[in-house]
Amino acid sequence: MAQKHKLVAGNWKLNGGLAANAALLGALEAVAGVEVAVCPPFPYLAQAASLLKGVALGAQSVSEFQSGAYTGEVSAEMLAELGCKFAIVGHSERRALFGEDEASVGRKTAAALRAGLVPIVCVGESLAEREAGQASAVIRRQLDAVRTVVGTPAFARLEIAYEPVWAIGTGRAATAAQAQEVHADIRRWLGEQGADAKAVRILYGGSVKADNAAELFGMPDVDGGLIGGAALVAQDFMAICRAAVAQGA
Ligand code: PGA
Repeated sequence: MAQKHKLVAGNWKLNGGLAANAALLGALEAVAGVEVAVCPPFPYLAQAASLLKGVALGAQSVSEFQSGAYTGEVSAEMLAELGCKFAIVGHSERRALFGEDEASVGRKTAAALRAGLVPIVCVGESLAEREAGQASAVIRRQLDAVRTVVGTPAFARLEIAYEPVWAIGTGRAATAAQAQEVHADIRRWLGEQGADAKAVRILYGGSVKADNAAELFGMPDVDGGLIGGAALVAQDFMAICRAAVAQGA
């Protein structure tokens, strides 16, 4: 990763409330040398936009549709209008619990790009897939499904988040070496597609905490993090952001 700063994005998942958000958002601040973002639930995006200073806003998901008879959906254009820069796409919880298949993850990525959002495309293997030696194949298939829809040049306009399913919310983060191995493989895949592999940020997500962030971010192909639980505690999240600065671009 040559030029860009690292990106640390907080994924609040289904957590928050007006009062708690105000306290958390008020305690977040810009950190020189790292790009910081938070992704609250949809109803709180406007509140977050009004309170954040120097911290970018993202959504946790996005509809593949722009407008029309799609009850319950939120379009990329609406998110952009509310001040979002990022949209998480294809989080493993969306895939596992809400039926998002690989093709729809591709279409959601395209929708985000269409509206000028930066998609954070999540990929990652389950424990069974890892133990069967299929991690690389699974991740490459997930990336291929996105490439099929948006094309290789679009990879210059998105972020990739490697989130091993077995590490999310479990307290069992990938080791720095495990993360590096997969990140390097994703970068190889990007190169094989003809993308400018070094220019694409590849984030790690899954039980990143203040005390393991520096080691993970110190890996050459880890360009930041997608943070769940630790993003709900301001001082932990800020510590993770500072760890990203310490590890450089
Ligand atoms: P976690 O979640 O940090 O709580 O493991 C990460 C994620 O799901 O993005």
